[in-house]
Amino acid sequence: MDTAKIIDGKAISAKINEENALEVARLARECNVQPGLAVVLVGEDPASQVYVNMKVKKCHELGIFSDKRVLSKDATMEEVLTLVHELNNDPKINGILVQSPPPPQIDEEKIIAAISPNKDVDCFNAVNVGKMLTGDNSGFLPCTPYGVMQLLKHSGVDACGKHAVVLGRSNIVGKPMMAMLVQKHAGANATVTVCHSRTQNLKEYTRSADILIAAIGIPEFVKGDMIKEGAVVMDVGINRVEADNERGYKLVGDVDYAACAGKASLITPVPGGVGPMTIAMLMDNTIKACKMQNNLI
Ligand code: GUN
Repeated sequence: MDTAKIIDGKAISAKINEENALEVARLARECNVQPGLAVVLVGEDPASQVYVNMKVKKCHELGIFSDKRVLSKDATMEEVLTLVHELNNDPKINGILVQSPPPPQIDEEKIIAAISPNKDVDCFNAVNVGKMLTGDNSGFLPCTPYGVMQLLKHSGVDACGKHAVVLGRSNIVGKPMMAMLVQKHAGANATVTVCHSRTQNLKEYTRSADILIAAIGIPEFVKGDMIKEGAVVMDVGINRVEADNERGYKLVGDVDYAACAGKASLITPVPGGVGPMTIAMLMDNTIKACKMQNNLI
């Protein structure tokens, strides 16, 4: 097999962002509304700070109103819940995102449950997770798996009847990825296997994958002998590993890219693959939230 074709998440997300910027402009012009997103950061985790700033910047580029709220690393549950309630009741805000993971004193489950399902653009709230699972599209789709599905679509990959193997079972990626791939929807209809840290004979599963989605958070875990010739490899991992550069680190995925690129038919790079799609789909959800809350859909 020749070297894999690279799925360019930067280019695909740029196209989606461009279309969404036009939609934001149309909403202002024709409906006199502006989508608004609140981004809440509790604490000082350096990676979370970067992600939150990227989300705010993208809002600005698309014409979406953004409200960044930073609470100290010692913030109490009560303070975070008070802020969520304030944002739930703020008409300028259509979407609320509390960056994960919060510091240990914060019970993330309780925070997620407190976000109004109508404003839960992350799709972490049980109401929206349930809607996603049952195929009810009146809720939201979680940004990262939604981004993976869009990358497949824009790359001409139809998962119908294919064996999709998901590595990882997190609530943010693995579980919703499984639910979205198995739906009776165009582009989905896959036969899905979910593998995780307790899976025995992992390689047997990964080697039978037509589509492999790596979301286990272990740097360069997927080696060349773990994939099938011609597989489509989607790398959700973003891991900081030490590097001899001025930052002191570099980003690598959950896939050993150099080892797999010669064997896969299509592969996402890190960075520049799934990452930029997550933010694009967050913007997409925020626009959808705005339209729902203004009875425009
Ligand atoms: N941390 C890592 N990914 C995400 C995400 O999609 N949303 C939020 N809120 N936090 C995250």
